[in-house]
Amino acid sequence: MKRLEYRGYDSVGITTISGNKLFVKKDKGKIDEVHKKLDLDDLPGSVGIGHTRWATHGVPSLLNAHPHFDCTGQVAVVHNGVIDNFLELRQELAERGHVFNSETDTEVIPHMIEEHLRQGCSLAAALKHVTTRIHGTYAIVAMSTSEPDKIVCTRDGNPLVIGRGMNASYVSSDIPAFLPMTNRIILLLDGEIAIITATEVTIEKLSDGAPVVRDVVKISWTADQAQKGGFPHFMLKEIHEQPDAIRNTLRLRPDVIRRGAELLSDAARIFLLAMGTSGHAAMAARYMFSSLARTVPTFELASDFADIVGRTLTDQDCIVAITQSGETTDTISAVKYARSFGTHVLAITNVVGSSITRLADHVVITQAGPEIGVAATKTFMVQLTSLAQIALALGEMKGVLDADVLQDKRKALEAVPDIVSNVISLQEERARRLAGFYYDAPSLLFLGRGISIATAREGALKLKEIAYNHAEAYSAGESKHGPIALVEPGYPVIFVAPRDETHSKIVGNVMEMKARGASIVSVIDSSDQEIAHLSDHVFAVPSGVPAEFSVMPYVVPLQLFSYYVARRKGYDPDKPRNLAKSVTVL
Ligand code: G6P
Repeated sequence: MKRLEYRGYDSVGITTISGNKLFVKKDKGKIDEVHKKLDLDDLPGSVGIGHTRWATHGVPSLLNAHPHFDCTGQVAVVHNGVIDNFLELRQELAERGHVFNSETDTEVIPHMIEEHLRQGCSLAAALKHVTTRIHGTYAIVAMSTSEPDKIVCTRDGNPLVIGRGMNASYVSSDIPAFLPMTNRIILLLDGEIAIITATEVTIEKLSDGAPVVRDVVKISWTADQAQKGGFPHFMLKEIHEQPDAIRNTLRLRPDVIRRGAELLSDAARIFLLAMGTSGHAAMAARYMFSSLARTVPTFELASDFADIVGRTLTDQDCIVAITQSGETTDTISAVKYARSFGTHVLAITNVVGSSITRLADHVVITQAGPEIGVAATKTFMVQLTSLAQIALALGEMKGVLDADVLQDKRKALEAVPDIVSNVISLQEERARRLAGFYYDAPSLLFLGRGISIATAREGALKLKEIAYNHAEAYSAGESKHGPIALVEPGYPVIFVAPRDETHSKIVGNVMEMKARGASIVSVIDSSDQEIAHLSDHVFAVPSGVPAEFSVMPYVVPLQLFSYYVARRKGYDPDKPRNLAKSVTVL
């Protein structure tokens, strides 16, 4: 449960079965807080279910914490996702005498199971009946004292994966939870139900009860990768793992990259779809594709794609869905929608077997290893890496760049891990010091031009996410049309200004801000004396990174700055308030 906490952390609960009785401990708060109060380890039995909650229906509270129960206290359920028609079901159940204890949508499920058990159904059959009545997205795990040796689970639209150990089985919404026990996983797909005991896993199709034979897959992630390994937080560890994550992604098989580029070369239009940090990788990719393959894809937020572009889609178009988790509901829904028009889909994700992998024509699995910190860092790097590789392959396919130029760019990409490594080791202390200087700034402005708009946006997002300072990112070109009105003496403006074709223009923007008294921090090429002289503080990045790959080293000081601001303010950077690692609600 601790290893899953990054998915939600406003309440926690566990139920176990022993001697035909359910035992429960649950409350509002983070696991450590609740554990201190209730001792969550002290529960009898060897079959149990637990949950860390990220509130959708009902405030974080003891009563709304999962597991939820039926009227008899014999059935326990945990659920991720949203049951859209729960109000109607709740009313029906209440009319038949069921008593509800929470405001959650989840609680209708155990009460419905209770009715079917009473009619003589098995637990699995009862859960199957429930799935015919509920609408929405869900991953549900249930158990009952009537069958005390098992848990049953099903999913539609929310992740759930089964782990097989030695005389033990596990089910979880994410692999790292059971990694110390096993790396042998069984995927459960939408519309399937699994009946799980310590020694056996049986999967059936919900539609017709047909048995499903599914192989056990061994995954390469190790338990160590999901531990902090001496770092105070996962986020800092993951920032330090970025050079290796890029290196490993650069080793992806060339045919995997080429197949991705082929899909794009055949497309009439290319749409990059993503949310959050993955959206910033998409923004950077527009520049990479423009520069390396003379193709400019459109970037749309997955959440708004169907509404804005939807009606124009055809089977000639191709979507590139970028999602580290492979589970973000906004992205999955947009892809499903596009598929109904026959649109092609290339997916870039970090999680083997995640939902997106089953919806795409081709999948590129990035090699960051498990990322636990809620704020994405190393998964961002590997998204950029694989997008750069695809852009290079597409450029080559289209023959738009000279072979020598392509060769130089490839070499430069190979050098990025060492440059990122250099930035981490030389700039971390400065990031910590500047965090002490700026931590209480009520608002900060991040500016960049060209590809560096994506870097600026990611820097501002990191700071907002984990340190809760108001931060806004803009194109430096656009900054004169509004944001500059905010600037008064001492107002912090952070410039991302590599030596690319935008350099002379951004020098002008730095001067404009300086003339108004802004306190200027810039992330610049180490040889850039001009901006260094105009700045109050600088982060220096080694020379020689082509603009196409500049986001990777230039974002690192901003990741570290946000991390240290969060720490200076006493916040836990791994678990920012109100955020979750994968957002599986619309
Ligand atoms: C959440 C996470 C972000 C992530 C975004 C998109 O907001 O906190 O770190 O960038 O979802 O997630 P995805 O898994 O689709 O990349």
